[in-house]
Amino acid sequence: MCGIAGMVALDDVAGRLADSIRNLEYRGYDSCGMALLNGSRSLIVRKNIGPVAEVSEKEGFAGLRGHIGIAHTRWATHGGVTQANAHPHLSCDARFTITHNGIISNHDTLRARLAKAGHTFTSETDTEVIVHLIEERYKQFRGVERAFVAALHELEGTYAVALLTTYEPDRIYCARSESPLLIGVGDSANFVASDFSAFISHTKRAVFMDDGEYAVVSHDGYAVKRVATGELVSRPVQELKWDTEMAQKGGFPHYMLKEIFEQPQVVRNALEIDAKLIERFAALALEKRLFLTGVGTTYYVAQFGQYYFSEYAGITPVAASSDEFRFLAQVDEGCAVVALSQSGETYDTLAALRYAKSRKAVTGAIVNVMGSTMARTVDHLILQGSGPEICVISTKAALAQMLLLARIALAAGARRGHITKAKAAAYEKQMREMPAIIETILNEKAGFINTIARQQCHINHWLFLGRGKYYPAARESALKMKEVSYVHAEGMPSGFLKHGTIALIDEKLNSVIFTPPEEEKELYDMTLSSAEEIRARDGYTLGIRFDGARKKAHLPFTDSIVLPRTPPFTAPFIEIVAAQLLSYYTATALNRNIDRPRALAKSVTVA
Ligand code: F6R
Repeated sequence: MCGIAGMVALDDVAGRLADSIRNLEYRGYDSCGMALLNGSRSLIVRKNIGPVAEVSEKEGFAGLRGHIGIAHTRWATHGGVTQANAHPHLSCDARFTITHNGIISNHDTLRARLAKAGHTFTSETDTEVIVHLIEERYKQFRGVERAFVAALHELEGTYAVALLTTYEPDRIYCARSESPLLIGVGDSANFVASDFSAFISHTKRAVFMDDGEYAVVSHDGYAVKRVATGELVSRPVQELKWDTEMAQKGGFPHYMLKEIFEQPQVVRNALEIDAKLIERFAALALEKRLFLTGVGTTYYVAQFGQYYFSEYAGITPVAASSDEFRFLAQVDEGCAVVALSQSGETYDTLAALRYAKSRKAVTGAIVNVMGSTMARTVDHLILQGSGPEICVISTKAALAQMLLLARIALAAGARRGHITKAKAAAYEKQMREMPAIIETILNEKAGFINTIARQQCHINHWLFLGRGKYYPAARESALKMKEVSYVHAEGMPSGFLKHGTIALIDEKLNSVIFTPPEEEKELYDMTLSSAEEIRARDGYTLGIRFDGARKKAHLPFTDSIVLPRTPPFTAPFIEIVAAQLLSYYTATALNRNIDRPRALAKSVTVA
């Protein structure tokens, strides 16, 4: 995830562009840069590693001249955090420069083709191919717009791009495909940006672009067109209602909600992670013994992985909490230890990895933060590419890790012949359908979940119950409830309830039941029996369940959050998203400090 900003005005824009990308830093902040045009002369490009304030100082952004410019703040995905990899990128003839957010999935092929045509690359990024491709198409068509559109046709993957060129020194070209982009409409200046926090202090008037559209923006106008047909799109200007402070959260009142809402894109990013890397981790799963480790949420991610490996790969790895790892895990040569960590800096998980290394085990990690200690410690690494997670509570990063473990389990299952390749492909297809289902929940169910949360927020004790792969989903969801709302919540296997905990059921304790889809008949029936046991003792039950064809006339739920039909492979992920919203709205109803709950820290680097 990166942040893009562009501005075209009648006076110097560099200072305002620097402010714009500072407001986009929540999207990434490992390096940044700016390109400006002063009249029709050559492009001025300045970039470096570090957050915006630091680079601004180092590169003297404020003193740069130019009435038109583009800028970028980066969260590295392809290529390390280096000055060369920072955006903007230049074409060979230095007449085009580009900034990009997203992932170009066919960048390897394009790079090879362009290199053959004589282009020299100066970075390791997928982005750089775009600017060389535009340069190449310009040679062919001799027109910027035609060259830009022709290049867009050749790109696969996701992007928001902004282009500046000396051939048309008064215009910014931009385009969007599955990465956000909008135009800010000012009085004698116009803007392009990944989100309106980049320009809201200058104008509250915006035009939201859709996928498959491009725009040409000058200081006194803009035109939005369809990439496929070139047809003009007429789109009304919208008045933004947010203030500057809210804008930094992209209009969301809290980072937690914003990050929950980013999950459709985060899922897409996790699905884009190279299959070769997934295969490498699948090979680790076939070592003598596989250990999965993490702590807090990431321990529940490990446990989630354990169930997926068991069901879809026919292997039961050991899932161990990293704080207990040394005291439990009998690791030696020939074993593989895979750690999960958002920050890549958690002391307990690092200690588990160091212990595994000292016992000569091969190590792997799935982490979100590039260059983190864990990323540098392990033998094999997956950078999950979920973008910065600012809220102390982990939501999107954990969901992406779960998805990656599910992908690895499928690859391992196919290698071992536990499932057929065709079956694995069918499950992968189901994963690709997840973003749309998550979007439906976010858009259509959040209001109802908020109502339930407000009705039930006076309850101080909750049980989160699930069976099979819904059990780790319940545990992770209980942790969310505890840490953000300060309400006592326990995650438990629903079958375990009758062995003691059921004694607690009364009107002061609520239960949330993670119900499988009806196709998982055995699990479904067993889960409903546990809910029946609670109802028989007058306990409140909130069913998180799926809409189904065969509806039971009488379900043992006091209230139900009914989710769109989802296949069993992806059902637990979808329930987790609904439960994240339940925790979030309970915490807001209780007026908690959402993004920085008491006593917590984003990165726990102590023992
Ligand atoms: C829960 C949460 C923590 C972290 C845990 C591990 O929402 O954020 O439980 O999951 O401290 O942190 P990372 O993933 O950074 O290793």
